[in-house]
Amino acid sequence: MDKKLEKAFNDQIKNEFYSGYLYLAMAAFAESNNLPGFAKWFKVQYKEEISHGMKMFEFLHDKGARVHLQAIPEPAFDFASVQELFVETLKHEKKVTSLIESLSDLAKKVDDKAAEIFLQWFITEQVEEEKNASAILDTLKIIKPDSAALIMLDRELGKREG
Ligand code: FEO
Repeated sequence: MDKKLEKAFNDQIKNEFYSGYLYLAMAAFAESNNLPGFAKWFKVQYKEEISHGMKMFEFLHDKGARVHLQAIPEPAFDFASVQELFVETLKHEKKVTSLIESLSDLAKKVDDKAAEIFLQWFITEQVEEEKNASAILDTLKIIKPDSAALIMLDRELGKREG
């Protein structure tokens, strides 16, 4: 594999694991604010991010490239509100979308067809990731804090499987 592309994949593995770490921090915040449904949602999201990183980990090995794990930055500890969790989630997912697009552009530039095709799954996944965060944020915008509606949403989010 092209060395620049290999490095970019390794950077993205770190970014995916960081995403997982960020969502786990959000789960901890929700847990400590007595919102077990929100916590469950973020714990499932954490697992998804780890699986994204692992998909890339396996892909690099399948291609005979070298995985180089990097330090994962510390995620935020405190958040202003549950609404803030989803403002940050949407912002973060938009950033990940642009990172995946840049990685895909690089795969194209170095003419690595397998990498390009592999990354198509991630491009589609990002549409879903942004849609989910945006839908929950829209609901939170019309819900008052500490209301019965927030408890209902907590129950709903707690049903997420994973
Ligand atoms: Fe790995 Fe949330 O995208």
